[in-house]
Amino acid sequence: QKDGYPHFMIKEIHEQPAAITRTITPRIKDMLPDFSEDAIADSFFENVSDITIVACGTAMYAGMVGKTMIQNRLHIPVTVAIASEFRYEEPVINEKSMVIVVSQSGETIDTLEALRLANKYTKKTLSIVNVKGSSIARESSYVLYTHAGPEIAVASTKAYTVQVASFYLLACKLAMTQQKISVEEARTFVGTLQEIPNYIEEVLAQAPDIEQLTKRMINANNAFFIGRGLDYTLCMEGALKLKEISYIHAEAYAAGELKHGTIALVSEGVPVIAAATQKHVYSKVISNIREVKARGAYVILLSKDKEITDPSICDVHINLPDVSDEFTIFESVVIFQLIAYYTSVGKGLNPDQPRNLAKSVTVE
Ligand code: M6R
Repeated sequence: QKDGYPHFMIKEIHEQPAAITRTITPRIKDMLPDFSEDAIADSFFENVSDITIVACGTAMYAGMVGKTMIQNRLHIPVTVAIASEFRYEEPVINEKSMVIVVSQSGETIDTLEALRLANKYTKKTLSIVNVKGSSIARESSYVLYTHAGPEIAVASTKAYTVQVASFYLLACKLAMTQQKISVEEARTFVGTLQEIPNYIEEVLAQAPDIEQLTKRMINANNAFFIGRGLDYTLCMEGALKLKEISYIHAEAYAAGELKHGTIALVSEGVPVIAAATQKHVYSKVISNIREVKARGAYVILLSKDKEITDPSICDVHINLPDVSDEFTIFESVVIFQLIAYYTSVGKGLNPDQPRNLAKSVTVE
């Protein structure tokens, strides 16, 4: 049931505001994160020496955002591991380590095996899972169910944003429990998170403009996503979305890395999708963007600036609603999803069923 939408993917992109609200609302009490409905005891958040986040694909990219959010507050080591690598490594975890596994389906075999391995070392395992009663949910010590509802399109969209929203609440809870932030700070943070669905609605209203600009993308063979900090973690998800449903080779780069090799690939007309939403590195990203623009790239820039008309910076500027830096990724990712979707449709492909891919990867 596509509810009038031409594809499940675009329907699911539009469902994100409601999915986030459904996921966070039961976990907020008195404007503070509260996981009592998930039966997660407060002791789970205490005495944590380090955190490992394990997942595959989009779920792993959600984990990368989670890493930044947690590490910036707790100042303890947080590592993100690719499940198919982690499960064959010697894990550096002990009984004080927390392991968070992330999976929409709850059945991805590598993630499940990684969890089984982690369970041998620590009781502090938590899964962030969308499908009730799935194997990963059953085998982890604690489960935080996201409430995205069924995700039919192979390309993950709403599952990603609810995973990220869950990490925001977890980061806040961990920081409060370990007295790294005040109650007031936590309330402000939670208040902003509650506003995110409204900001996403504003971004979704730009869909017709995004559809227009993808006309320049459909003939591309390569595309690059660049940003720094949280924007960079988001670029990885943007590149994955574009490649899996439009078959355009897309890579994400930390903008500062370009001049260490990749800029050699930038030639006339190559699309570069850049995000510059993080104040502390804004001027650095803009100067990186000028470098690719000077080499002929077709630059689509996402920022919170009202307007950028300087042709030495970008060809198209997408204005994002003004929210604090840590929260812009919810807006940018929706733009990235729309770029991937309309590029795929513009190429005459079926974004719901990309070639060679299955929704749930239950074989190695
Ligand atoms: O069900 P899971 O979240 O464990 O799936 C992990 C990946 O296969 C998945 O996120 C995949 O990368 C996305 N469908 C890509 O859009």
